[in-house]
Amino acid sequence: MEYNQVLDKLSQVLPAKRFQHSLGVSQSAAELATQFGENVEKAKLTGLLHDCARGLSSNTLLQMAETFAIVVNDVERCQPVLLHAPLGALLARTEYGIDDSQICKAIALHTTGGRDMSLLEKIIYLADCIEPSRNFSGLDKLRSLAFTDLDAAMLVAFDQSLHYVIELGLLIHPATIEGRNYLLQKQSM
Ligand SMILES: [Fe+2]
Ligand SMILES: [Fe+2]
Repeated sequence: MEYNQVLDKLSQVLPAKRFQHSLGVSQSAAELATQFGENVEKAKLTGLLHDCARGLSSNTLLQMAETFAIVVNDVERCQPVLLHAPLGALLARTEYGIDDSQICKAIALHTTGGRDMSLLEKIIYLADCIEPSRNFSGLDKLRSLAFTDLDAAMLVAFDQSLHYVIELGLLIHPATIEGRNYLLQKQSM
């Protein structure tokens, strides 16, 4: 599907606020892609699609994971909302006709992050954090860092995500720890 077709479809399946957020992520992803030399159209489309499975219920997400033989770990079983990322990647392929594994992997990793992320994956992860409708303390700092040093911004974003998860008493997804450890080790080399 082309960008405008995806836009039409998402406007029908996502609640208004989530749709606005997706437009914001698409815009921020395009800006980061321009800054760091990633394919702008690809980043825009990935940002737009990243939350395409966010409207699905926990039960539906778990059922879909089983149907499509997606491995669900203990953390995801307790917090099925996390599955909207890998299942979003699946829907991007099946419902939106996206035949690009880089796009699908960036959607799959947008919530937890992971080790050794590609440029597009980092752009989408950060665009999700800094898009225009976000509002949290430290946002301006993270925004400017994202446009100067992607890895440093990823580390701040991972730390924020971990603080948030701990504050809410939720389980920590191992992929976030792996992503953070990977960047810290890379930095010290
Ligand atoms: Fe998401
Ligand atoms: Fe999002």
